[in-house]
Amino acid sequence: MFIFRLCYHSISQGKIVRGVVISNPDNPTGRVYTKAEIMDVLEMCAKHQLHVVMDEIYALSVFGDVVFESVLSFPDIPDPKRTHFLWSVSKVGFSLVLVDIIN
Ligand SMILES: Cc1ncc(COP(=O)(O)O)c(C=O)c1O
Repeated sequence: MFIFRLCYHSISQGKIVRGVVISNPDNPTGRVYTKAEIMDVLEMCAKHQLHVVMDEIYALSVFGDVVFESVLSFPDIPDPKRTHFLWSVSKVGFSLVLVDIIN
């Protein structure tokens, strides 16, 4: 996954990486990441003590046969204290952002 390459490249360049933000479904492609893909990222971040912000603002914008699984439905998040969830109702006409730490 691109985020792996970017993280390892940044770390190898001596940059300090504190965390990653993943938009799932992705913006602007609309791609929906599988639970396995998200778990790979969560495990990598847990291993390196990185925060993860899961931005699921487009969770209601999934079309066709694609299955979207929210990180909130994962019972086995590797590092819940560094895993954050972001959602907003702005895409349905209101202005409010919810950011929370899981557990
Ligand atoms: C992926 C993503 N996350 C978060 C936001 C922020 O949404 P807002 O500030 O409109 O609530 C946007 C806005 O376009 C977005 O595309």
